[in-house]
Amino acid sequence: MAKQLAITFLPFLPLLLFTSITEMVEGTKKTYGVTDSNTVKLFVFGDSYVDTGNFLDSPSYRAPYGMTNPGKPAGRFSDGRVLSDYIASFLKIDTPTPYSLKNSSNLQYGINFAHGGVGIFETLTKGPNMTVQIDSLENLVQQNVYTKQDLESSVALVAVSGNDYTAFLVNNKSITEIKSFTETLIKQLSTNVQRIHNLGVNKIAIGLLEPIGCLPQITVVTFHLACVDLLNLVSQNHNEVLLQTVKQLNEQVGKSVFVTLDLYNAFLSTIKMMQENQDENLRLLNPLLKPCCNGDGFKNSCGVVDDKGEKKYSLCDKPEDSFFWDYVHPSQNGWNSVYTQLQSSLGQLTDKN
Ligand SMILES: *[C@@H]1O[C@H](CO)[C@@H](O)[C@H](O)[C@H]1NC(C)=O
Ligand SMILES: *[C@@H]1O[C@H](CO)[C@@H](O)[C@H](O)[C@H]1NC(C)=O
Ligand SMILES: *[C@@H]1O[C@H](CO)[C@@H](O)[C@H](O)[C@H]1NC(C)=O
Repeated sequence: MAKQLAITFLPFLPLLLFTSITEMVEGTKKTYGVTDSNTVKLFVFGDSYVDTGNFLDSPSYRAPYGMTNPGKPAGRFSDGRVLSDYIASFLKIDTPTPYSLKNSSNLQYGINFAHGGVGIFETLTKGPNMTVQIDSLENLVQQNVYTKQDLESSVALVAVSGNDYTAFLVNNKSITEIKSFTETLIKQLSTNVQRIHNLGVNKIAIGLLEPIGCLPQITVVTFHLACVDLLNLVSQNHNEVLLQTVKQLNEQVGKSVFVTLDLYNAFLSTIKMMQENQDENLRLLNPLLKPCCNGDGFKNSCGVVDDKGEKKYSLCDKPEDSFFWDYVHPSQNGWNSVYTQLQSSLGQLTDKN
């Protein structure tokens, strides 16, 4: 039964979830203005839900991405701001520089290492997995770009949103082994977040998995009218294991270093809320699970043009009315509402342990 369902849904699975200096000079530290000890810094790890510009040759750098904010493509997989931008504003700092765009004078708010399409393990997209992203931070610490004090007052944000599952389902063509895959995945995630803590970061926010059965690439089978419960169960199981792991990690360190952000319920309640705010006619015309930037057929071709310059996608009139921007990513307004839902748990990020 499960096997059959998996095969039925496989063609609709995404090809990719784009979803996917300081210098030691003769022993003296020379800083480049990074060590502004009064500001908290944010270090971001993960995929396109938080990437703000590391995936240089991706559609996120093509129109219509970024059309709402800043008004042109800016390397985000949305029409505007994404989750990491909102978390930075919660911390009252500018959004941290993407690692690909770093230079000696833009490191004061931290760094965003996240890269669209990647995961904890290898995925269908080439790019730095989470281990490699943490290696990059470790290198910067070894080069004294960031001091131990910098990290102690920093916050880390980790969002891995399902590219590992996409790769798993595409490669294994079956959903029967998915529970054991979840165990393996969370084990590696646990190792990863402990590494971030061992580097000195004392507050680490980890996103729970969103309801993957509600992503437009999946709901195409319901004409975007309903979520696919079978895949939401994968998210639920993932989140149960993750919550249990986080609890154990906090017990081990004896303080609440690790905090979870419940993207699962934030997505669902936002979708429900936006649905209730729509009037009856609009709901019929524009099902809420339908993306604003709608691909051609089953592909996420938002931003794609053919050889003749013909668009391979259609665009809705008002991105702010759609929860989803493209086949996998929320719109800016979608993220804004999710962020509002997360407010109550964000307080833990600025609490002293
Ligand atoms: C560093 O990057 C910022 C953008 O993040 C840019 O405005 C600035 O000119 C760059 N500085 C140097 C020294 O390259
Ligand atoms: C992450 O990527 C590196 C470099 O490609 C690879 O050696 C490593 O095995 C990967 N880590 C995991 C956990 O998949
Ligand atoms: C396929 O499933 C096995 C068993 O769970 C797992 O070890 C392996 O990593 C999976 N392969 C891929 C490519 O995800």
